[in-house]
Amino acid sequence: MLKTFLTIGAGPGIGFATARQFAKEGYHVALASRNPVRLRKLAERLEAEGLSASVIQLDASDPQAVGRVVADIGHDLEVLHYNAAAFHFDEHGDVVTRPLELETIQSLSSGIQTNVSSALAAIHACLPAMKAKSAGTILLTGGGFGVSPVADFLTLSVGKAGIRAIALALFEPLKQQGIHIGTVTVSRGISPNSKQAEEVAIEFWALHAQQPDYWTVERVYT
Ligand SMILES: NC(=O)c1ccc[n+]([C@@H]2O[C@H](COP(=O)([O-])OP(=O)(O)OC[C@H]3O[C@@H](n4cnc5c(N)ncnc54)[C@H](OP(=O)(O)O)[C@@H]3O)[C@@H](O)[C@H]2O)c1
Repeated sequence: MLKTFLTIGAGPGIGFATARQFAKEGYHVALASRNPVRLRKLAERLEAEGLSASVIQLDASDPQAVGRVVADIGHDLEVLHYNAAAFHFDEHGDVVTRPLELETIQSLSSGIQTNVSSALAAIHACLPAMKAKSAGTILLTGGGFGVSPVADFLTLSVGKAGIRAIALALFEPLKQQGIHIGTVTVSRGISPNSKQAEEVAIEFWALHAQQPDYWTVERVYT
């Protein structure tokens, strides 16, 4: 049985590159996101390289659903990667900004479900098995907006600040239990299927591969 790497928020950029990096290191990778057709295509790209992949349809705006998916994998889960974030694209595939007058309490709350709450739900759900083994890695995709917030990306800025806070706050207590939590703060634009996405994936692998005495909580990709 291969050890399992799960990425929640699997798309063609950082999600795919990181899954591929772990698959090449011998993991079975489970790819979770909303669109089953796109997911299947990502899995087929990995399988075409002889790598082991499966797909899970999941909407990360629902923390309870996220918790169930993670709990179902149970003891096989060695690495949890929370990569989902709420942002919107126009018909050209460009990210849509949201000026303050369009940022409502509702849009902020709904974005935070995906950006933060479901990350915590995933962590809660993986901890019983990781604690029982005194082993496991939790990786969170952060963003430069979490450190340098931007008005037109307020929900994402709050979300990435939350992701960073979760990683930094939980690092020491989880380390005491043999579990490594870390975040890569991505502080530049990353295109799908790019060399930069692969470099972020290597940052995640580098965090995971650290020896326990040298564990760190954050790497910054600029
Ligand atoms: N790209 C950048 O320039 C950049 C810069 C800094 C930080 N980041 C962070 O890096 C992470 C990955 O970004 P990326 O652009 O490279 O994307 P990606 O890994 O290519 O794909 C992320 C995937 O997340 C999925 N997703 C979004 N909302 C979801 C939801 N509610 N439930 C389940 N899946 C959901 C989407 O797939 P479906 O639509 O099929 O669900 C999307 O394809 C994000 O956390 C982002 O904030 C990106």
